Amino acid sequence: MQQGAIGLFDSGYGGLTILEEIRRLLPQYDYVYLGDNARTPYGTRSYEVVYEFTLQAVKRLFAEGCPLIILACNTASAKALRTIQQNDLPKMDSRRRVLGIIRPTVESVAGLTRTNHVGVFGTQGTIQSESYPLEIHKLFPEIVVTGEACPMWVPLVENGEYDSPGADFFIRKNVDSILKKDSLIDTLILGCTHYPLLENKIRQYLPEKIKIVSQGKYVAAGLADYLKRHPEMDELCTKKASVRFYTTESERKFADMASVFLKNEIRVKRLSLE
Ligand code: DGL
Repeated sequence: MQQGAIGLFDSGYGGLTILEEIRRLLPQYDYVYLGDNARTPYGTRSYEVVYEFTLQAVKRLFAEGCPLIILACNTASAKALRTIQQNDLPKMDSRRRVLGIIRPTVESVAGLTRTNHVGVFGTQGTIQSESYPLEIHKLFPEIVVTGEACPMWVPLVENGEYDSPGADFFIRKNVDSILKKDSLIDTLILGCTHYPLLENKIRQYLPEKIKIVSQGKYVAAGLADYLKRHPEMDELCTKKASVRFYTTESERKFADMASVFLKNEIRVKRLSLE
């Protein structure tokens, strides 16, 4: 099999927060990032649609030569990952791999919570799928998990409003709501890759003793560990420290917004997934 770059996929810009952390830890690898900005947000879409869109993205990244793809999107990880791994991958190419980001995030919580009460902020899709409580309970059945869907947070980020008074209003509303559901929460997972951009504002409305779990560094550590445990996959991943960007929306728009996430200029190409 041919070697290629590691693929990262998100519905929009959010996965860039994961790419940043992965590149910080594993700068030697090549990466291809694909954002389906034309069809974002995924968070309010049905299982069928998130699965269909995610599968299209996976096929496109395979066509780019990626041997390994990370779904850098919790909604896609929650709603499409398992079906793609179990049904589609064996038919497409059983040597390639598609990984999600929920598992490595969940593995971190036991070391953080003291009260064993954990909260999760996510899109409607991620929270309704119950993926976080299911995954947490597989490893730590004693932990009480409370979810809070924050349907306005992704649009705030995608529209560049993450630092506006509008953001304060919606963040405060969801923070108050989750703490009302469970006042013993001492650890809060940002279960959506867009949310690290809102972290400063979230911090402002949370009691200081509550820890915030921003998943990028856990996903990066999980990937490093995976590549160590699978040298045959590591060999298939090229290492020239490059990164390419693709979007399904306008190239200019993506490059402008991406600079907010990545703090440097990038070159990006538009493609169509349908
Ligand atoms: N960033 C994605 C996530 O982690 C999804 C955002 C969306 O498209 O709703 O869930």
